[in-house]
Amino acid sequence: MNFQIEWFDKLASTNASMRERFLQSSRIESGHIIAAREQTAGRGRQDRKWLSSDGTNLCFSLFVETNAELMAVPSLTMAAALAVTEMLNTKNIAAAPKWPNDVLVDGKKICGILSERVEHPKAPMAGIIVGIGLNVNMSSAEAEEIDRPATSMLIETETATNLLKTLDELLPLLEYWINEWETAGFGGIRDVWTKRAGPIGKPLAVHDGDIKKSGTLAGFGDHGELLLQTAAGIKTIWSGDVS
Ligand code: BTN
Repeated sequence: MNFQIEWFDKLASTNASMRERFLQSSRIESGHIIAAREQTAGRGRQDRKWLSSDGTNLCFSLFVETNAELMAVPSLTMAAALAVTEMLNTKNIAAAPKWPNDVLVDGKKICGILSERVEHPKAPMAGIIVGIGLNVNMSSAEAEEIDRPATSMLIETETATNLLKTLDELLPLLEYWINEWETAGFGGIRDVWTKRAGPIGKPLAVHDGDIKKSGTLAGFGDHGELLLQTAAGIKTIWSGDVS
């Protein structure tokens, strides 16, 4: 993957900028990255806000050119989560991926990923924008302002880290895991994902809006969907929050 990185001081959302760029251009290729020191309207899953103060955290979007269908989007997010997890593990941060799109340390969120499929209305071009928000230098005070438990590389290691260097360290791992995904879809990441996000049999509660389902982890389906063992049999979960 040929990474081409564009840094901006301030953008509304790197995912939104990447989408605009994709729609305007016919030349955008896999590996194109738009990164921002500050986002004024960073977005998360389910229309949540993604908060990150100026120059503190890594906020970027990576374009992956692919004709893969909508169903394949979650497993690309999972591949990116494995890359982030491994990068953090090399720094002795006990990070683990959490289905469907997070990386946690000890139950606290350190990274969120928002992937969006894009199709060009006029050209035979399609792809997935993988938007990654990694808490690098967020302080404990900032983390406490977030409505859910959050942490950062700074909080975990007591060391501030350069954002450009962090991105540089992440890219080879993103390349590796995206390549596995491009070659075999979720099948290319299933074993490692299950090992790191498991174990099979662990108790889970899945919340989707007002609906709550409880059970244990039975595994993951062919597209990375969560398989929940409930008293009434195995339920397939495509989206939701897991606790
Ligand atoms: C989530 O946890 O719900 C996903 C958060 C994704 C945040 C990143 S930051 C870079 C990119 N641009 C956005 O607006 N969102 C993603």
